[in-house]
Amino acid sequence: MFANRVITRGFASSVASLAPKVAVVGAAGGIGQPLSLLLKLNPHVGRLALYDLVNTPGVAADLSHINTQSSVKGYKGPEQLEDALKGSDIIVVPAGVPRKPGMTRDDLFKINAGIVKGIAEAAVKVAPNAHILVISNPVNSTVPIVAEVFKKAGIFNPKRIFGVTTLDVVRASTFVTTLKGGDATKTPVHVIGGHSGVTIIPLLSQTGINFAKEEVDALTHRIQFGGDEVVKAKEGLGSATLSMAHAGARFTDSLLRALAGAKGIVEPSYVYSEIGAKHGVEYFATNVELGPEGVAKVHPIGPINAYEEQLLKAAIPELQANIKKGVDFVHQG
Ligand code: NAI
Repeated sequence: MFANRVITRGFASSVASLAPKVAVVGAAGGIGQPLSLLLKLNPHVGRLALYDLVNTPGVAADLSHINTQSSVKGYKGPEQLEDALKGSDIIVVPAGVPRKPGMTRDDLFKINAGIVKGIAEAAVKVAPNAHILVISNPVNSTVPIVAEVFKKAGIFNPKRIFGVTTLDVVRASTFVTTLKGGDATKTPVHVIGGHSGVTIIPLLSQTGINFAKEEVDALTHRIQFGGDEVVKAKEGLGSATLSMAHAGARFTDSLLRALAGAKGIVEPSYVYSEIGAKHGVEYFATNVELGPEGVAKVHPIGPINAYEEQLLKAAIPELQANIKKGVDFVHQG
């Protein structure tokens, strides 16, 4: 259900329509700009609020000339953050620094943890019912940061906080079909765990495709470290932005449709999870069915083979450490 339904009139229509508000935080960045473009094109978005420390008036003015129904407004600087978030149904967060060659996602923690915490604190104040979609890395830690901020305020709702891991399944489908042939758009790959290196666990055995052992090794490594290919190719100018914008827009679109009542929408996401708890972690990525309240059902891992058991075993200690780091940050900070 939309957190903040209002009735507005689209400029090209005299028919009153429901206007879900989506805020993008970090909207002037490498991900933020193409993501905002894709959201401006999305017919389910009613109002688009673009927030960043820099350049959002320009990005908003540019996008506002596109003749789709949604309104778009730019907000710049900390004094405008609360106005940007106020009344949002969905807050998408690609704010913060990306990786440079040689960096892990965890190396970003020092800068991005504080950024994400500040955004969550503003959301607690002015958009306590918003669904928060965390893109900023390290996702394994930034999702617990958002959750702890909401817990501290006494309004934590595990159905409304998501780590966006969609890019992992987008990449997995592409890499599998590049190797084996077939239509990538019709070859879903269930990827579980977290969103960094060995915590990314592709369940190739669930695809129904036959792989040789070397193929499984190569594909698993490529899916786990696919982000590094982009970081390296961009030679210090950042990490995945365009493919991430696509993945973020896909997840936002799925959630918007589910909030509006569409049934059977399943996307992977790193969420507060009873499935994770069985393996000793509070947050865990699996397929998640989306519904009117956000998370409708966290799907189980499903059948996995001995190889994937080993991957899971290797991922858990790192995930535990990443989660603890996020939780501790909020309580020490
Ligand atoms: P970028 O540097 O191009 O853009 C980041 C934007 O955030 C900049 O416009 C900057 O001004 C803004 N920003 C910084 N502090 C802010 C604050 N306090 N409030 C609002 N905005 C703020 O970086 P890029 O490439 O867009 O990446 C953004 C984040 O997304 C990085 O942390 C990156 O690691 C992560 N990422 C996540 C992926 C995923 O699969 N979840 C995939 C790729 C990147």
